[in-house]
Amino acid sequence: MSILLPLCAAAVCGLCAFAAAKVYYTAKNRRDFGDEVRAHCAALSERNGELEVMLSRLGAENAEFKRLNEIKSKFMSMVAHDLKQPLTSVQGYASALDDGEQDPLRRKMIGNITKAAVNMTSLINDLVDVYALSAGKFSLNMKKFVYNELMDDIYQQYKVSADGKQIDLRLIEMPVKIEVVADKLRIHQAVSNILNNALKFTKAGGSVEIRYYTDSGNLRTSVRDSGSGMVNVDRVRVFERFRQSDFMPDEYRGQGWGLGMSIAYDVVRAHHGIIESDSSGPGRGSLFWFTIPLEQPLAEADGF
Ligand SMILES: Nc1ncnc2c1ncn2[C@@H]1O[C@H](COP(=O)(O)OP(=O)(O)O)[C@@H](O)[C@H]1O
Ligand SMILES: [Mg+2]
Repeated sequence: MSILLPLCAAAVCGLCAFAAAKVYYTAKNRRDFGDEVRAHCAALSERNGELEVMLSRLGAENAEFKRLNEIKSKFMSMVAHDLKQPLTSVQGYASALDDGEQDPLRRKMIGNITKAAVNMTSLINDLVDVYALSAGKFSLNMKKFVYNELMDDIYQQYKVSADGKQIDLRLIEMPVKIEVVADKLRIHQAVSNILNNALKFTKAGGSVEIRYYTDSGNLRTSVRDSGSGMVNVDRVRVFERFRQSDFMPDEYRGQGWGLGMSIAYDVVRAHHGIIESDSSGPGRGSLFWFTIPLEQPLAEADGF
């Protein structure tokens, strides 16, 4: 009994000390936890402040972006109307001056004026098209037509300039009639852009071959040339806007703005098609081809 009492007292004291320590540490943990929560809250509110600043900056940048876009639209409509109109007049007056007079110098000068005006008109048309395509302001006029006839027209159109450059331009005709639903003018534009390049990048004595055929519900058109060719990296990059090959031979620099292939790309994509290019390397010619489905919705598309 005499031993039990001090033992009990010690146990009670121990328990009390344990309880007191637990209360102390629980309170301390709660305080620490509270401090931690407060620190997180402060960090969050600081982050929130930063986000608000970023949001208002983004709002301002967005407004600026909208303003610049409006300026771009205005500029493009000025280019379309205010520049194209006088250029058409220049062409008209130049051909009016060409009254059949035989003075060679005068004829040469008139020819140069016409050529410059035609080139500028074509560059401006490309610019206007690129703007319409990138702004989604592009509609397709889908109609059924005979593809063989379009290809014949294009071939005849380019045969004269190919002969003039002593390039052997060939069209591999299809013996069967191919009917396709597409925007004829836009497909004409895409093929012309590809063909223009093939003739531009091929020297006298070279050849350009146009081919078309159907394959599992698709229409495939290809243009192969024996011209300056491309490096591997350009096979995809040539379809970007304002992109010309860094490895292009110097003699071609300054000819064009690097828009033709991006327009062809957008036209083909708008027809749910695929366009690609290939080359075995510099000096070894190029191949450009695209496919579009033979059937498209007959209704006029509102852009894409
Ligand atoms: N048939 C081709 N042979 C070699 N390079 C080509 C050919 N077609 C296109 N390219 C390359 O792709 C670039 C982009 O073509 P394009 O968009 O038509 O622009 P541009 O003709 O105004 O230079 C050309 O500058 C050229 O570097
Ligand atoms: Mg071109």
